[in-house]
Amino acid sequence: MKTVFSGIQPSGTLTLGNYLGALKHFVTLQEEHECFFCIVDQHAITVPQDKMTLRKNIRSLAALYLAAGIDPAKSTLFIQSEVPAHAQLGWMMQCISYIGELERMTQFKDKSSGKKAVSAALLTYPPLMAADILLYNADIVPVGEDQKQHLELTRDLAERFNRQYNDIFTVPTPEIPKVGARIMSLQQPTKKMSKSDANTKSYISMLDDEKTILKKFKSAVTDSENVIRFDRENKPGISNLMSIYSLTSGKSLTDIEEEFRGVGYGDFKQAVGESVVRALAPVQERYYELIDSDELDDILDEGRERAQKVATKTLKKAERAMGLGRKRR
Ligand code: TYM
Repeated sequence: MKTVFSGIQPSGTLTLGNYLGALKHFVTLQEEHECFFCIVDQHAITVPQDKMTLRKNIRSLAALYLAAGIDPAKSTLFIQSEVPAHAQLGWMMQCISYIGELERMTQFKDKSSGKKAVSAALLTYPPLMAADILLYNADIVPVGEDQKQHLELTRDLAERFNRQYNDIFTVPTPEIPKVGARIMSLQQPTKKMSKSDANTKSYISMLDDEKTILKKFKSAVTDSENVIRFDRENKPGISNLMSIYSLTSGKSLTDIEEEFRGVGYGDFKQAVGESVVRALAPVQERYYELIDSDELDDILDEGRERAQKVATKTLKKAERAMGLGRKRR
């Protein structure tokens, strides 16, 4: 049995990309491994947030984790800011990070480019992410493609700490799915689907209703070839729809090409939309049962206690290794 850690930011309702690229895999991993799943609210505040909305999004994300199938009997689900060891080790990780390597992160470049006021925390976001992972000595970190660079930095920081101080951290391995690691925007299929996109037609929210989902797929950007064939390079729109259909229906890409030979794009988009509606319906139903329940608070309280125990132990070890605190006489 290995240890698994992953996190999701509570910055708006999750998209189909978060679900297919990350959440769905978390649910499978909990069957075999010791899993920790985190709502990373401290990462969310690296960009300005409205406090009422953030609070709402934190609760909503917790309910979505559970509705998607995270089982509190098998996994630990908790909120980052409720376990102070994250920020504490995050600071220590910043102390061994170089500004140059942080400035090279593509997420930092994307989020800061063209902005007048960029928070210092947007730059030091990855050392906090490293702390999240290292506190639990995670072996495996399931993420989508966009987090790969942050994971490489986490590995570098773990190795650096182990070399410079004491060999206490497990060097984690990212686990990136073969299909679905990068679900693309429905409007600009060369860009990843993102919940922060201003155009709501570009993403499917996990809580979109049937009508909205079908409409968004209907207006998805494709190409003019009118052949359903997987070719990411030349047919990014159709390939993205095929990945989504494959992941929500369980059919292989080859079977999909076969099934839709000679079929027009309009019918194909309708089929993809219906498949997504079917996949999300049970998740949405469970979400609305959970969102205002005491059960949700009980699960998060218990998650905080379990996470705290593990995290505090690692933090103490790291502090000792770095020489923090006082030497007792
Ligand atoms: P976040 O909140 O942006 O996304 C959560 C997870 O969803 C994946 N994802 C996607 N996968 C496929 N296609 C997409 N279009 C798509 N969009 C998002 C992300 O890769 C991610 O796995 N920095 C992280 C949160 C984090 C974290 C961690 C992750 C903080 N600490 C420790 C792992 C371990 C983030 O912003 O993810």
